[in-house]
Amino acid sequence: MDAEVFLTHSNLSDDDVQGRTVIVIDVLRACSTIVTALERGARAVLPVLDMAQAGKLAANLDPDVYRLGGERNGEKIEGYHLGNSPPDYTREQVDGRDVILNTTNGTRALRQAQKASTLIAACFLNAGRVADFVRRTSESVTIVCAGQRNRLSLEDTLCAGLLLDRIWQGEEPRPVTDSAHTAYTVYNTDRNNLDSALRGANHAEWLAAQGYEADLDYCFRTDALPVLPYYTDNRLRLYEDVVSNN
Ligand code: MLT
Repeated sequence: MDAEVFLTHSNLSDDDVQGRTVIVIDVLRACSTIVTALERGARAVLPVLDMAQAGKLAANLDPDVYRLGGERNGEKIEGYHLGNSPPDYTREQVDGRDVILNTTNGTRALRQAQKASTLIAACFLNAGRVADFVRRTSESVTIVCAGQRNRLSLEDTLCAGLLLDRIWQGEEPRPVTDSAHTAYTVYNTDRNNLDSALRGANHAEWLAAQGYEADLDYCFRTDALPVLPYYTDNRLRLYEDVVSNN
């Protein structure tokens, strides 16, 4: 399958995604939060670009039916219900509610890719489910790593490589784009020591230093939550709910 990988979302344009199947990856932690919230019964996750957009959406909703979540510099935003630690998105918090999610990189990457014909959020937790879906439904794929502050993030690149390994079923096609070859090669270099490579990534070390080590244990579990967050009408919902139009 033809594949292209953007190692950060910073220069992504509408032309890069229009007419394409696009996977956005933010392992730490936005996409892990999205997968968790949907698995625990959230009706939808609405990713936003900034504080203003989050406030505007919240102002139009009944306070009982939404949760406002997100981070700046890794910490919960003042006045929000939740930060960006996936385990905090418990069933009690999110079941039957919409989650408005405002993060520094991940939710912006999703909004920047919103012109895609198919848009999916991915992380290690749902890697197998995403790879199966793309393999069955598409002939080409664009993977957008959120990265961090315009820079590559090792954990997102490794997740992109893992997805490609699953999508290609262990055999790299020829020809291959330079970007997909790079992500696949990095993954193959680290695949036998994946956990220690992930824990040595800059963002992981930073989160551990801020006291978020438990989030790393949570987010680095491959295939633990096989849900498919599918973007439609400015929100991510479970694919099954979108096709059955619930
Ligand atoms: C982001 O979107 O930038 C991340 O999810 C930041 C974080 O680790 O909370």
